Amino acid sequence: MKDIRNIVILTGAGVSAESGIDTFRDGGGLWEQHRVEDVATPEAFARDPDLVLRFYDMRREAIQTKEPNAAHLALARLDREWEGELLIVTQNVDDLHERAGAKRVLHMHGEHLNAWCTACDVRSPWTGPLLDRPACPECGAAELRPDIVWFGEMPYRMDEIFEALEQADLFVSIGTSGAVYPAAGFVRNAREFGAETLELNLEPSQGTAWFDEARHGPATALVSAWVDEVLGL
Ligand code: APR
Repeated sequence: MKDIRNIVILTGAGVSAESGIDTFRDGGGLWEQHRVEDVATPEAFARDPDLVLRFYDMRREAIQTKEPNAAHLALARLDREWEGELLIVTQNVDDLHERAGAKRVLHMHGEHLNAWCTACDVRSPWTGPLLDRPACPECGAAELRPDIVWFGEMPYRMDEIFEALEQADLFVSIGTSGAVYPAAGFVRNAREFGAETLELNLEPSQGTAWFDEARHGPATALVSAWVDEVLGL
């Protein structure tokens, strides 16, 4: 085993599934309940803002009733105790990593608990609905939208992510289907930079062949065991 000092962890909806938050592409998942084109593109927002705002109001309310699970707690422990570099790059827009205590977290697809003003470009902490067009706390304009990266929009902080991938000795992907780029390509980037790669997922992801090792099962069990292993190193 390579001397592991710098770790990059990519998480997806599967890490929050056992907290009762729907994933996107599993049976009964969000994209079976709603058409992406209707709720998760800038075009959809321009066409029918009420439908989009109602969808995210519902999800913003729902995540505030959920609790972090053992996988979130194990990653928060790793964050506290790991002396090397560590970055948790999450595709998730819930705040369960932070509520579990993790600090070194980067939300590449945005956050439910922020509202983004398209008039003054300021993001403000937000827990309530946006459907009734509330005023921006910063500039007062009624131009708030969910702070979510929609399909066709650029994910956040890609420079920081690539910097961390370049330095990584180990890349771990947890609870993601590998269906959406650029996140689905990180495993190949990490490999090119010489990192070891590990997949922890309920089932083989679309990119499973790119990983040096893959372990399949529920995140609560896999992640806790893996963190014990890593901290035991
Ligand atoms: N433990 C571990 N993995 C799980 C669990 C679980 N309890 N439950 C589901 N999974 C796995 C599934 O097997 C699947 O591979 O989590 C993955 C979830 O995949 P998706 O629903 O596609 O979610 P994700 O990969 O995060 O989606 C990526 O797509 O819709 C966009 O922007 C959205 O961030 C999202 C991106």
